[in-house]
Amino acid sequence: MAHRLLVTVLGFLLALIVSARYEDRYDLNTLPWDLRPVSDFIGLWELENKSGNTRQLPPPDLIDFAINPIPKFGARAVNITHSYFDREKNVIRSDYGFMPVKNATKRDPRIHVAYLTTSSEGYSMMEQGTVNGPKITFHLKQFLRRTFDVENHGIELDIREFERQFEQKDFHHMTMKVRAETAVDTEFYTANYRKVAP
Ligand SMILES: *[C@@H]1O[C@H](CO)[C@@H](O)[C@H](O)[C@H]1NC(C)=O
Ligand SMILES: *[C@@H]1O[C@H](CO)[C@@H](O)[C@H](O)[C@H]1NC(C)=O
Ligand SMILES: *[C@@H]1O[C@H](CO)[C@@H](O)[C@H](O)[C@H]1NC(C)=O
Repeated sequence: MAHRLLVTVLGFLLALIVSARYEDRYDLNTLPWDLRPVSDFIGLWELENKSGNTRQLPPPDLIDFAINPIPKFGARAVNITHSYFDREKNVIRSDYGFMPVKNATKRDPRIHVAYLTTSSEGYSMMEQGTVNGPKITFHLKQFLRRTFDVENHGIELDIREFERQFEQKDFHHMTMKVRAETAVDTEFYTANYRKVAP
């Protein structure tokens, strides 16, 4: 009897922990040690403005960096969601992915990161980089044009080179700089984001 009660209570507690974990997606108290180098980037970021030129690879209107409680590819990872809106604020496109982080070790003092995303437009990008203080810099390693079939908007995207840099300006501001060479042209822009959550 006491045993059954204990099992019930444990099950209830577990359910509480699991649901709490989901809500703790930005809670730095639950941040895995390995994600510390990118802790200031955790949150929901809203595009404030942008300068430069872009045709095929515009900055997302929202960037969501959440704590993923489960290790990915053998490393702790941040969940990435990019959302793009139309004028009426409907989501017209999104990218989902992971940012695994490998903290510095004695043998390798660099903090390695990857930025792995799949777009609702059908392509995937694999970027690799490092964290240097308030900056995370990535270079494109692989571009997969069609990971699944979707209707493209008349533009066949082909990315030849891609560099992405996030820089923390202060606790509530970051910039994303992108330099891309596509089959069509060169795009270069700076986008300013403001943290809207937590
Ligand atoms: C992370 O992403 C996965 C897959 O996209 C999703 O199932 C999971 O709920 C996300 N977790 C958080 C904490 O955002
Ligand atoms: C990970 O990096 C942070 C600083 O970015 C450091 O404080 C921490 O000690 C590192 N953790 C390990 C296990 O190396
Ligand atoms: C763009 O936003 C940043 C803050 O994120 C602000 O400092 C800057 O003045 C803005 N630029 C323009 C042209 O509005």
